[in-house]
Amino acid sequence: MLSLSTRKIRATSSRENLLDLAMGPNRRRKSSETLRRDRVPAEGLALVARDPDGHVIGTVRLWNVEAGVSREGVPVDALMLGPLAVDAAHEGKGIGGALMRAAIGEAKSRGHGAILLVGDAPYYERFGFFAAKAQHLVMPGPFERSRFLAIELKDGWLDGAAGILIASGRKLAMPRLRARPETTNGIVLEKHVPFSGYSCSVVGMHRLLRATS
Ligand SMILES: CC(C)(COP(=O)(O)OP(=O)(O)OC[C@H]1O[C@@H](n2cnc3c(N)ncnc32)[C@H](O)[C@@H]1OP(=O)(O)O)[C@@H](O)C(=O)NCCC(=O)NCCS
Repeated sequence: MLSLSTRKIRATSSRENLLDLAMGPNRRRKSSETLRRDRVPAEGLALVARDPDGHVIGTVRLWNVEAGVSREGVPVDALMLGPLAVDAAHEGKGIGGALMRAAIGEAKSRGHGAILLVGDAPYYERFGFFAAKAQHLVMPGPFERSRFLAIELKDGWLDGAAGILIASGRKLAMPRLRARPETTNGIVLEKHVPFSGYSCSVVGMHRLLRATS
């Protein structure tokens, strides 16, 4: 059962270190980074997995986007997923899959209609992501069409959706804090999902109340 708790954000620098190791130094040059830069993740959709000692060993976040426009010319709200990463020492234990399933379930329960991502189809197809669902959409920068995937959380949500993805998430109140995240005092909302000795947490940073300079 999910339980809610609040606590000071301590996952930020651990998560960034994990992403640097898993994704490499060029990770911020990806087109998907355009959709994340200076934005806050979608409400309740930043997840971390921790080992029994509390170390961050997996992370995934989802971001609000407009996925082109509908046939009627109305922007189509959706989520962009990424990055997903698991500590190399813990790969193959099902942690990535647990994070993906928790993220999809949480997005669905929050009423979202679709999730997009850029990633390896052989991995993401098991969760229901397929290139066909994103065939009329484009990333805001270079991308491989065969790796641009989507899942509908509501039937037909992406039918007719066409055009470029645009970031639509809430902007970071104080982007400069990203440079020194370890000095921030934030409030997080955590949902703990028991998972065979590990805990998966849904972490939503709602508001930075105060920042030390
Ligand atoms: C991809 C990643 C998140 C998977 O995490 P994980 O916790 O090892 O995943 P799981 O344990 O849930 O699943 C493991 C299975 O996925 C498969 N798998 C992992 N990466 C894969 C890939 N890129 N393509 C196809 N299958 C893949 C494994 O072979 C394994 O298969 P099996 O169950 O048949 O043995 C992790 O390897 C990682 O962080 N990689 C580096 C960063 C990365 O590439 N992120 C994705 C960017 S799109």
